[in-house]
Amino acid sequence: MLRRTALAGALLIGVSIWQAPSAGAEYLTRPPLKDITHRYVGSAVTPAHLAERDYRAVLTREFDSVTPENEMKWGTLEATRGQYDWSGADELVRYAKQTRKTIRGHTLVWHSQLPSWVNDLPADELRSVLRQHITTVVSRFRGKVRAWDVVNEAFNEDGTRRDTVFQQKLGDGYIADAFRWARQADPSAKLYINDYNIEGVNPKSTATYELVRSLRQQGVPIDGVGIQAHLSLEYGFPSGYRDNLKRFGALRLDIAITEADVRMPLPADTAKLTTQAQYFKELWDGCHAARRCVEFTTWGFTDRHSWVPDVFPGEGDACLFDANMRPKPAYWAINS
Ligand code: XIL
Repeated sequence: MLRRTALAGALLIGVSIWQAPSAGAEYLTRPPLKDITHRYVGSAVTPAHLAERDYRAVLTREFDSVTPENEMKWGTLEATRGQYDWSGADELVRYAKQTRKTIRGHTLVWHSQLPSWVNDLPADELRSVLRQHITTVVSRFRGKVRAWDVVNEAFNEDGTRRDTVFQQKLGDGYIADAFRWARQADPSAKLYINDYNIEGVNPKSTATYELVRSLRQQGVPIDGVGIQAHLSLEYGFPSGYRDNLKRFGALRLDIAITEADVRMPLPADTAKLTTQAQYFKELWDGCHAARRCVEFTTWGFTDRHSWVPDVFPGEGDACLFDANMRPKPAYWAINS
């Protein structure tokens, strides 16, 4: 963010010995993304990669927020009941402290990457275990996490509730409960519901909108809507993106772009990279056109480490920097 320019200067000195290979002299003459906007600019991070010098340098230079890619998920933190592994999360918190980044916590209630023992619990026990989980995790990082993705991916594409273990055993009310428990554990963290395919106006984003409106009416402590923004050249740019941000903003909610990437069928070529750049720019510009859009986070920043090829075979190159840490046309489209 702009207010941190003095710090940015210090960091620049810190990374000045490092040059992106063949990035061109141009790269370090532009201010980093975090200094050209009043929004938080973030990336998902896998702390193990911080040992790579160029990975760490670009992350530190460009971004002022980090989201643990997997390290705060239930399956990572408590794979075995009662045995917590905080190592990855703590490593990210240490990095954030050292480099003065804020943290987006991800994620407390999600059907995926859930330890199998949670799936097997009877309803009454599931409720107390969920409460315990939220309380334990949010309390541990109290004051350190700026915003939490409290509930992740609760809806189907048609706007009905996803049939998760939480929905099945606890019913509709689990979402409101999760927000209340999170607020109790850290009153200063901003609390979000987060989902994919809710960038444009469609049945899923409308269901999210209606839920959030009703939660606010009931006084449930929800502060924002996280829009993942995993886009794909194959599906085109989501229609009604700006209108959608506008309606969420009108609920007096914060909006965050939480997981932006734009994947393409491989191999990449100039035309695809140009379209990718247009998508990233419109995501960025739309966020900046919406007063309540407070954060723009990408799901990783380098094609060297991206979830896309593992999950979408034949697709990739979804990030702002290539595998050699060179800024791609999408980066220049945003930072021009
Ligand atoms: C992904 C991670 O990037 C992968 O490393 C992991 O194997 C699976 O999860 N939506 C989310 C993220 O909310 O947590 C997912 O992250 C990507 C989709």
